[in-house]
Amino acid sequence: MPTVKIAPSILAADFADLGAECRAVEAQGADWVHLDVMDGHFVPNLTMGPAICKALRPHISTVMDVHLMIAPVDPFIAAFAEAGADILSVHPEAGPHLHRTLQAIRAAGVRAGVALNPATPAAAVSEVLDLVDLICVMTVNPGFGGQKFIASQLPKISELRRMIGDRAIHLQVDGGVDAATAPRVAEAGADVLVAGSAVFRGGSAADPAAYGENIRAIRAAAEGVRT
Ligand code: DX5
Ligand code: ZN
Repeated sequence: MPTVKIAPSILAADFADLGAECRAVEAQGADWVHLDVMDGHFVPNLTMGPAICKALRPHISTVMDVHLMIAPVDPFIAAFAEAGADILSVHPEAGPHLHRTLQAIRAAGVRAGVALNPATPAAAVSEVLDLVDLICVMTVNPGFGGQKFIASQLPKISELRRMIGDRAIHLQVDGGVDAATAPRVAEAGADVLVAGSAVFRGGSAADPAAYGENIRAIRAAAEGVRT
């Protein structure tokens, strides 16, 4: 049975203890760790910059998956690469030249992703498939955790799965993913599930058993429908 990767978003973790939160969630079964970078301009919230990502790097032994919700994004690619990101995802709206931005990410030795807002069509990546390692379908408007899953995005996930074909491109879904919505996105073709509130609820770095239960519940729900 095909597997899915679970990428907890530390946006829902204790910001006073992020290193311990990363270690805890990995110990509890996370496949990747998802870092949401927001600038208060591209999205109406502020989170972390390259210095915090760099500080977290030693606390992440899986994949540091950095979701950049900043504009302009190009001036910061080098800093996030230097911070140790394994994947840098950008939004097409974050600069005038998506192709150039993706080239710059790859030239920095980092895997490149494109994140699509709910109003952004799948076609936004049709001409850059040879430059991406990941496509992220946002199932909420970016900016905040804990929002309601936008089900209208499911056909876009299916469409992107068809566009990807046999290319080695991950299809990620981000926003409102929990054990109830995971089967729907997995069935549509997603193979990496970002989840913030649904992973971090009920636990803490000091008492992380709930993280493991939450991750297993999302994974089981998703993998139960994949054939
Ligand atoms: C939203 C972020 C998401 C967010 C997901 O802008 O990109 O990664 O943390 O949080 P939940 O899983 O709570 O919707
Ligand atoms: Zn995200």
